[in-house]
Amino acid sequence: MKFQTIIVTCRERERVLQQTLSNLAATDWPGQPHLQMDRMVTGDCRQRQTENVRLGLGWFVSQSDADYLLLLEDDLEFNTHLWWNLERWLPMVDGRLDFGSLYNPNIRNNSGDDYFIAHPGACYGSQAYVLSRAAVHVLLRDWLNVIGMQDIKITRILGAAGYPLFYHRPSLVQHVGIQSVWGGGYHSAPDFQPGWKSVFSYERIPGWFTFPRLYERAVAEARHGDVLVEVGAWLGRSTAYLGGQVKASGKQIRVMVVDTFQGSATDPQFYSAATALGGSVRQLFDRNMRLAELADRFEVREGYSVDVARSLPDCSCSFVFIDADHGYDSVRADIRAWRRKVRPGGVLAGHDCFTFPAVFAAVRDELAGDFATTDENVWIHQVNAVTPIARHCPFNGDSHIGNVIRGLFLKFEIRSIVETGT
Ligand SMILES: C[S@@+](CC[C@H](N)C(=O)[O-])C[C@H]1O[C@@H](n2cnc3c(N)ncnc32)[C@H](O)[C@@H]1O
Repeated sequence: MKFQTIIVTCRERERVLQQTLSNLAATDWPGQPHLQMDRMVTGDCRQRQTENVRLGLGWFVSQSDADYLLLLEDDLEFNTHLWWNLERWLPMVDGRLDFGSLYNPNIRNNSGDDYFIAHPGACYGSQAYVLSRAAVHVLLRDWLNVIGMQDIKITRILGAAGYPLFYHRPSLVQHVGIQSVWGGGYHSAPDFQPGWKSVFSYERIPGWFTFPRLYERAVAEARHGDVLVEVGAWLGRSTAYLGGQVKASGKQIRVMVVDTFQGSATDPQFYSAATALGGSVRQLFDRNMRLAELADRFEVREGYSVDVARSLPDCSCSFVFIDADHGYDSVRADIRAWRRKVRPGGVLAGHDCFTFPAVFAAVRDELAGDFATTDENVWIHQVNAVTPIARHCPFNGDSHIGNVIRGLFLKFEIRSIVETGT
């Protein structure tokens, strides 16, 4: 995600511009701004300013290859964590943003968490706009269709084109220029917080995570050196939760993440989403883990579940969670491949036993009824020390009895024991 900053200014405002530049330099914002200097010497100040903004938009399209424009006025204070917060802003993370204002001069707001969507007719104040390249093209195309200064033009044109107008909450930018060049009234952002820093949680990542208690227990039960495996991460919603739990535990636990990052045949919507992103969502997964400050927490094995399982020694994992392909044959193949990898007393579990009948049937048939389900839409199988598969596994210093006792501690909140029907 590449940004170009443009500050719109004029010669008469050199002093306030210098202060704004030094305020910006004191934040974490990367890169040098381009100064869009008004070179006209006569004419109506409002028209000059509006025209200067249009020239700035034109400069962006022709001279910059950035994905986004941060368009600033020249009399501002900034939140110290401007870049951090913008990267983690929800409409930015989920890719919905074409217009964003980091400055809210008390426009009505009634929804969202770190943002709200404003009615185009209510918007004013072009102190700090984030604009996508597509939005800039629309603005240049329709610039003359709306009468008014740049804030009115930009918000009305983009509103009419159907773009949601996102406003950051709280404001990350404050207006300090009491005196406007053209005599307009002074406004400021009542919700500006110079030190506010967002926290990026797993909830920001789109996904299908319904099993926090299972992961909490897996981490609580894990010992130093244990290997936990998640098969099926997609954009990393469940992964981020697991990583956060491991981080908070302070234990030396290895977390392995297995995914093709390409979707699967039985879930066509995954395929099409991945195809739209060039065939893989790996980049988005990596970005989400970085934003959640968990990038170094995982060993990512990009590949097919059964292939990755085959590459690991038997009994090397203490917990494996399967949330990959939801087809009957695939779930059976995954269970067969991963069950051998779980050490005696460890847990093999998976998602969606209530959502997909095929998953339920596969689990039932492969585990011959030896599993439980919970109200988190998961099935759980405890690999027993006395099962034929577990018998050939080394105990890593554990005694047989020790494993059985340890198994007793692994009591998940079981909603029902599944009937096999036999
Ligand atoms: C339901 S999503 C995982 C959702 C995730 N746990 C969450 O919290 O949102 C399923 C994932 O499994 C991956 N997948 C499907 N079949 C696979 C296979 N055979 N091997 C590895 N990954 C697979 C897909 O690429 C997709 O990312």
